Amino acid sequence: MIPNDTSTSLIMIFGATGDLAKRKLYPSLYHLYKKGKLAEKFAVIGTARRAWTHEQFRENIKESIITFVGTNDQIDDFASHFYYQPHDVTDSNSYIQLKKLAEELDTKYSLQGNRIFYLAMAPEFFGTIADHLKSDGLTETIGFKRLVIEKPFGHDLESAESLNAQIRQSFAEEEIYRIDHYLGKAMVQNIEVIRFANAFFEPLWNNRYISNIQITSSEKLGVEERARYYEKSGALRDMVQNHMLQMVALLAMEPPIRLTTEEIRSEKVKVFRALRPIEGDEVEKYFVRGQYDKGTIDNNEVVGYRDEHNVVPQSNTETFVAGKLMIDNFRWAGVPFYIRTGKRLTTKSTKIVIQFKNIPMNLYNKNEQLSPNLLVIHIQPEEGITLHVNAKKSGRNIQTKPVKLNFSNEADNGINTPEAYEKLLYDCLHGDATNFTHWDEVALSWRFVDKISEVWENKQSSFPNYKAGSMGPFEADKLLQQDNFSWWDVTDLDVENC
Ligand SMILES: NC(=O)c1ccc[n+]([C@@H]2O[C@H](COP(=O)([O-])OP(=O)(O)OC[C@H]3O[C@@H](n4cnc5c(N)ncnc54)[C@H](OP(=O)(O)O)[C@@H]3O)[C@@H](O)[C@H]2O)c1
Repeated sequence: MIPNDTSTSLIMIFGATGDLAKRKLYPSLYHLYKKGKLAEKFAVIGTARRAWTHEQFRENIKESIITFVGTNDQIDDFASHFYYQPHDVTDSNSYIQLKKLAEELDTKYSLQGNRIFYLAMAPEFFGTIADHLKSDGLTETIGFKRLVIEKPFGHDLESAESLNAQIRQSFAEEEIYRIDHYLGKAMVQNIEVIRFANAFFEPLWNNRYISNIQITSSEKLGVEERARYYEKSGALRDMVQNHMLQMVALLAMEPPIRLTTEEIRSEKVKVFRALRPIEGDEVEKYFVRGQYDKGTIDNNEVVGYRDEHNVVPQSNTETFVAGKLMIDNFRWAGVPFYIRTGKRLTTKSTKIVIQFKNIPMNLYNKNEQLSPNLLVIHIQPEEGITLHVNAKKSGRNIQTKPVKLNFSNEADNGINTPEAYEKLLYDCLHGDATNFTHWDEVALSWRFVDKISEVWENKQSSFPNYKAGSMGPFEADKLLQQDNFSWWDVTDLDVENC
């Protein structure tokens, strides 16, 4: 049940001096504030080790808004809701101080005891913080209590299970909001609407009419400052276990009977249960890993992964993954879902291509295959949908040419759609957990991914195997060629090229 006026809340941010808080959380809270979605009754306590005062913290909040939002409109009033408490996550005294401040602010802003604990910190602290929140009395409150956890949720199934067991000592499953920020993206949320609100898609959305689905999430950036984390994670854990598999679930799930959190999650879980496990010798047949070598991006020479700061010279960490997933249920039997993600690729782009089966014959030219119909969902940086259809070429002879029907979210609204974090914070304030991941989804996706990493970790790779600025190793192309498909060139599919 959603309580009244749930935007009234105390938000406690652990890791308040960090990068995520500065770049995403404060700008998102500011947008909500400006849109009147935070009400007057909200307060934020930021915590971290450094000994800042409230004033210093507020100055940093303002700086973040000016830098990342580009305005100072009502900035003093906004920042006046922010308080800072120096904090050591392992020390009970810190939590006792925090509780005192929380109670003061609760009274000052009439917050009805509602509390959101946002853990924007390194994952090794998640369990400890959850324990202290309970043992030091912060979870004892008359209002709601919600725990927001950043990724990664564990390193594998075993560690995720033990983290989950630990936080469940302090929070019930429905009070835990596990962030997968892809689920806050406008076009990811749109997948469901495109499928279930259009008469012409849903009847075709199955193995009779779809030949394959391709999901590409490519980055131009290298590992940047994240090598310490990334060396232990790699692309499989960093991207596939969460974002890529979540998109697969949304594309493949059955229509929920109602648009409630429980019904949608239950349909997504069924997809994960139907995902064919890939293990042992099969891993090489279904999955390709890669690591970038030096190369050229935007005319700049860039170094290979093994020469990046904090990366070991013989690193076996993958910066690229391509895979073929099979969903063994009635709707999808026989339809490959190809996924591909990596760093230092040609372009920054997340796109989904739904390729429809060829029609039985080409009436217009018996010697040529007609271009297949495609539905392209542009997730980022562009947001939109393109439908590729065949139409008549102008001229006296009847010849066909592919044309593209295009919808661009940005063009339609005239402005960029809200940042994913803004939507997710709003949902959390309102007790809507639909766009957060349930434990069952997390566990099943780790189970799938663990079987692949087990094989990879025990076998030295022949890295580096793709040039920075390319679209990954040659084997990723072969993965589709053996099924008589090929990757659609994501740059060709860009809205501006339509
Ligand atoms: N940055 C992103 O864009 C991004 C995107 C997706 C997910 N994430 C996830 O978000 C989380 C935070 O990432 P981040 O990039 O913001 O990390 P970060 O910049 O390293 O920030 C870490 C924060 O934790 C505080 N901290 C560290 N040790 C502490 C301790 N013992 N007690 C109290 N506070 C402590 C740090 O402040 P002090 O040094 O002052 O203590 C700092 O505020 C991670 O789980 C990350 O995987 C980040």
